[in-house]
Amino acid sequence: MWPITTISNYMKIKVSAPGKLMLLGEHAVVYGYPCIVTAVDKRLYVQAEIINEEEDEIITPQVKESRFALESIAKFKENYKIKNSVRITTNGDFSHNVGLGSSSAVTVATFKALSLLFGVSISDRKIFDLSYAVNLKIQGLGSGFDIAAATYGQTLYFIRAGKAIEPLNNELLPIVVGYSGIKADTPYYVRKVAETFKAKKSEMERILKAISYLVEQAKTSLKVKDFKTVGRLMTENHNLLKNLGVSTDKLDKMVTTATSAGAWGAKLSGAGGGDCMIALVSEGRRRLVEKAIENTGGEIINVSNNAEGVRIEK
Ligand code: MEV
Repeated sequence: MWPITTISNYMKIKVSAPGKLMLLGEHAVVYGYPCIVTAVDKRLYVQAEIINEEEDEIITPQVKESRFALESIAKFKENYKIKNSVRITTNGDFSHNVGLGSSSAVTVATFKALSLLFGVSISDRKIFDLSYAVNLKIQGLGSGFDIAAATYGQTLYFIRAGKAIEPLNNELLPIVVGYSGIKADTPYYVRKVAETFKAKKSEMERILKAISYLVEQAKTSLKVKDFKTVGRLMTENHNLLKNLGVSTDKLDKMVTTATSAGAWGAKLSGAGGGDCMIALVSEGRRRLVEKAIENTGGEIINVSNNAEGVRIEK
């Protein structure tokens, strides 16, 4: 048992980090190509306090998240030579089922909360690096794009492991998000692509490179708010993801129905196999597109993008 000393201004601190949506470039980003991710206004909250107990305590509605919180605490204590025990309590605006990135948000928010609680000054870059290390330890794979979104917020041009983390603009994008009703198994799909990559290297390299060209064009178009072009690039990206073998009939249907109803473009968002699709839509067409997605059995998730990164909550 270690005495509780007043280490910082806080005895208890609450912080939050945003969820994310991949706009373009999933899977290709795992192979060193860029992607574009945007942070969403659904947040994950972490409260941290020092406790007079032998063991740390995690109170979380989602078992999966408790591993991320526990590993983050262990890494933080090891890095900053902290002996006290802490209690971490999490809750969120979204379920871990929809694929908005609850694990990465919990990880980032836990590091931020602990740094404030123990009066350790750590930069966003350090929070990203520590969180990415936790992510790799638990999952063994991943580009870290979700961690960048949770840390920095906004819409980011991102390269694996944070080789590039570049904010693109602060505009709200006119998005419609549809949940397919199926929880995607991200590690399964990342491995599936890796296996196909081994078997058909040159074909896969061609597809991943083609995705990266779309990302570069979308980066330019986003900067000038040319959403029509970004939409077209997203649909092209979806078709390439289909060629990678990660889409499903349901996601394809949601995407085609959205574009038929007048969306500028649409695609699955994330690893594939389920989770969400995302459409870029003019205000005049929004309701039509939402209805069309609902008619395919999709559930509209009300989110807006370009949310703030990890922050203190009152
Ligand atoms: C999963 O949401 C996105 C992937 O690119 C994996 C990753 O970047 O970590 C498939």
